[in-house]
Amino acid sequence: MFFDANPIGRILTRFSKDITILDYFLGFIFNIVTHTAFKIVGIFILMIITIPYMAIPGVITLVIMYFLRKRSITAQNDTQRIEAVTKGPINTKLGSLIDGLSTIRAYQKQEYFVDKFVIDNDINGDAMFTFHGVSRNLSAALDILSFFFVLVNAYMIVLLKHHTDSLDLVLASISLQFSIEITVNFNIAVRFATEAENQMTCAQRTIEYAKMKSEDDFEKSTDPVDFPVVPTIEFKNMTMRYRKALEPVIKNVTYTVKPGQKIGIIGRTGAGKSSMLQAIFRLVEVDDDGQIIIDSHDTRKLGLHCLRKNISYIPQTPFLMGASIRDNLDPFKVHSDEEINEVLEEVHIKDYVSSLKEGILTDVGESSLIFSVGQKQLISLARAILRKNKILVLDEATANVDIETDSLIQKTIRTKFKD
Ligand SMILES: Nc1ncnc2c1ncn2[C@@H]1O[C@H](COP(=O)(O)OP(=O)(O)OP(=O)(O)O)[C@@H](O)[C@H]1O
Ligand SMILES: [Mg+2]
Repeated sequence: MFFDANPIGRILTRFSKDITILDYFLGFIFNIVTHTAFKIVGIFILMIITIPYMAIPGVITLVIMYFLRKRSITAQNDTQRIEAVTKGPINTKLGSLIDGLSTIRAYQKQEYFVDKFVIDNDINGDAMFTFHGVSRNLSAALDILSFFFVLVNAYMIVLLKHHTDSLDLVLASISLQFSIEITVNFNIAVRFATEAENQMTCAQRTIEYAKMKSEDDFEKSTDPVDFPVVPTIEFKNMTMRYRKALEPVIKNVTYTVKPGQKIGIIGRTGAGKSSMLQAIFRLVEVDDDGQIIIDSHDTRKLGLHCLRKNISYIPQTPFLMGASIRDNLDPFKVHSDEEINEVLEEVHIKDYVSSLKEGILTDVGESSLIFSVGQKQLISLARAILRKNKILVLDEATANVDIETDSLIQKTIRTKFKD
């Protein structure tokens, strides 16, 4: 469910950009901020020791600085947000452009898409430029501010030298020299403090991820050794929803599947058939007052591996891992090649597989392009037959194959799963 609500790009950003900033830049930035802040405080103290009157322009400068920064930071945050928002379409478009290159070329629409892409880049560039403009603007203002402060200091030294004898000339020259450094340090401190504040959003997002509730334990000490002994499935007052805020998609369903029974669930599209099956595997949790009981174990109390390993599932949209066909069928490597070839024969896909150059060792690849959806369902079925589980769950397992294959598969299911 998490992957439904979070696009893969966003997750990757969390684990690459955000973590890099946390691990490396943030510490570095805080280091600079504290370093320069202490330096400024030191110089201030030195100035005040030399000429106590300097406390007055000092405080005024700090107050003005505070307001300048406050005003600027709002603008910086806004422009940075706009920059981030306008970057989204560029990334998304780049992805779909690369995927659709051949289509674009076929229709000779290169220029059209290049133009669109340039426009997106332009908008993003505007936002970026404004952001840098705003932060430079603050720098310039701070420079002018500290310039006046240094000027006042210099003027005071000259003034006091002329009119009194109390001025310590050695201290005065040191303070004059250091006051020039204030200009640079002021700027660095404020810029990096702003930067630190901005980058703390990465920390916030990472904490959000860290606090996320994960799936239940994979193994539990209470897991039965043999599960299920008697394959009954009992739905009790089962209500489920995809997210807390959403309406339930299944309401208050109660029924029992007895051992050896074959139950079909019929419903219109979107009625909740797939959802009900997902609930069995706890891909989605049912509401607290409902229960799914398999062989007198409440599924909620079982370790996820115990539950999922022992029920075979052919999903509506079949999924293969980026590994060889053999690994997909037998991930735990407990079956022989002969057994695997046998099940491939049973689901009528052996001819196709052996026509591939490397046979069952062929790599399915990340995008599983060597199989059609129907063929993937057949592979899933083969996997189910191989596992010999007592419970088999089919979600329109033959939705994507032709009628002839459909009847062949039905025959296979009837013989292989007759018990
Ligand atoms: N990931 C999801 N997040 C939120 N709602 C969902 C999600 N998946 C399904 N739904 C909602 O749950 C309801 C039931 O969907 P489900 O996929 O279970 O239907 P189905 O009976 O299997 O339909 P079909 O025959 O088309 O496969 C739908 O109304 C849908 O809007
Ligand atoms: Mg469905």
